[in-house]
Amino acid sequence: MHVTENAPLAPLTTLRLGGPARRLVTARTDQEVIAAVRDADAAGEPLLVIGGGSNLVIGDDGFDGTVLRIATTGFELDGTVLELAAGENWADAVRTVVLEHGLAGIEFLAGIPGSAGATPVQNVGAYGQEVAQTITEVVAYDRLAGEVVTLGNAECAFSYRHSRFKAEPDRWVVLRVRFGLADHGGLSSPVRYAEVAKHYGVEQGERVDLTAAWNAVLALRAGKGMVLDEADHDTWSAGSFFTNPVLTPEQYQAFLARLGDLRAPAYPAEDGRTKTSAAWLIDQAGFKKGYGSGPATLSTKHTLALTNRGRATTADLLALAREIRAGVHAAFGVELVNEPVFVGVEL
Ligand code: EPU
Repeated sequence: MHVTENAPLAPLTTLRLGGPARRLVTARTDQEVIAAVRDADAAGEPLLVIGGGSNLVIGDDGFDGTVLRIATTGFELDGTVLELAAGENWADAVRTVVLEHGLAGIEFLAGIPGSAGATPVQNVGAYGQEVAQTITEVVAYDRLAGEVVTLGNAECAFSYRHSRFKAEPDRWVVLRVRFGLADHGGLSSPVRYAEVAKHYGVEQGERVDLTAAWNAVLALRAGKGMVLDEADHDTWSAGSFFTNPVLTPEQYQAFLARLGDLRAPAYPAEDGRTKTSAAWLIDQAGFKKGYGSGPATLSTKHTLALTNRGRATTADLLALAREIRAGVHAAFGVELVNEPVFVGVEL
């Protein structure tokens, strides 16, 4: 276990934003993770658990407590069952699964920054896949009970960018994630996403070559600035800054009435609701790619990513986020909600 005092947190986030932690603990084994959590809980010390720092907006004042950085390792594949330690790099794990083992189930989640342990928390998803489809079990430390438990898929209460872990953030620390993958003889899972299907000239629901699917997703993501690249400030972001609004039938009707002749993207969602596109709303409200003149701007490749051009503070980023949220609300009556986890700040 490695401990430093008054440690800068900005370098641990993909936004490169946020003040220092009073204490930063880096844990390399599950035992170290559990010990650090137990110590903090016993002392009544505020605790912030971080993985890859890719979905995190930390205030400029930092965190007055213990930040626990999960740096555990473990990639175990038994047939089609994959177990990842929470600290494993997600994008690397996906690459290994696809390129070295030819297994399907997470190939469309290529290139997503962050750690494996973070994937169940927000039910990471992209290009028609989400981890809820393949996660069989999550091994987590339950801070309420003070013990390690194994939660089955149903117990994780997954929904769009949400889970039990996100709903009860002070209760769970993810240690290991198990996935049930599939061997389709070198083919991918069925293509669900229109953009990917179009790329291949196939119908939605067809399978394509597994490695080619992985490559196509990486190229699509890179084109949107959603693959980390130190030299490219468009990738100094927390990915999508807002969730895609999911509207009730009444809200959707009111939204359509405001659109007039415009046609917004619309996808069927749970309980008869309709999911529309935050990126589209931002764009149509007048915030184009690259919008902003300060040190925090929209990505020049995607309206949904708020980026640090190098000298931004969290306050700069939040000012931009508030301006966009207000502009979208004024134009469409829809309230955007932040997707990343906020620490010590709110919109
Ligand atoms: N659009 C614009 N302007 C833009 C970009 C997009 O108008 O600059 C519109 C287009 O109509 C496009 C639609 O927005 O069809 C959706 O864009 P995209 O396909 O890029 O997806 P997204 O809704 O912006 C979601 C996820 C991403 C995920 C992609 C791909 C959320 C909040 N975001 O983005 O996940 O990678 O789909 O599946 O669900 C993340 O959660 O951090 C994330 C990156």
